[in-house]
Amino acid sequence: MGDREPTIIAFVCNWCTYTAADLAGTSRLVQPPNVRMIRMMCTGMIDTKYVIKALLEGADAVLISGCHPGDCHYINGNLKARRRVRLLKEILPRFGIDERRLKMTWIGASEGIDFANTVKELVAEIKQLGLNDLRQKMIL
Ligand code: FES
Repeated sequence: MGDREPTIIAFVCNWCTYTAADLAGTSRLVQPPNVRMIRMMCTGMIDTKYVIKALLEGADAVLISGCHPGDCHYINGNLKARRRVRLLKEILPRFGIDERRLKMTWIGASEGIDFANTVKELVAEIKQLGLNDLRQKMIL
C-alpha cells in the first residue's frame, strides 16, 4: 500500500451523521484521521456526479451517511440517496472503480460510537482493497 494513507470523502447529513461525528469527537473516541467531511443538509442532495468526481480525482473511498429511514428531515431524501447509491454501484465499474469504494450507512445523531466504528471499518476495508490508482492514471 506504500506510505500514503487512504483518503475517504464523507458526504454526511447535517442532522444525523454530522452530529454523530461531532459526538464521536467530543467523546474522544479514537478514530483514524482519514475522513474529509462534507456536510450536506440531507443525503438527498448528493448528486451522483459528486461521488464520481471524488473517486476520479483520487479519493480512495466515498462514504454517504445520513438519517435512518423514517428520520430524514426532508421526508425521504435518504431513500433517494439510497437509490442513487444502488445506481452508482452499477456504474462505477464502467469507470474502472471498484464498487466497494462507495459505502452508504445510516447513523443517527446519538450514534457517535457507530460513526467511529464505521470509519475504522471502512479504512481497514480500503487498506485491504488497496489505494485508488485512478488519479495516477488520469495524470499520465
Ligand atoms: S435530513 Fe438526514 S438524510 Fe435527509
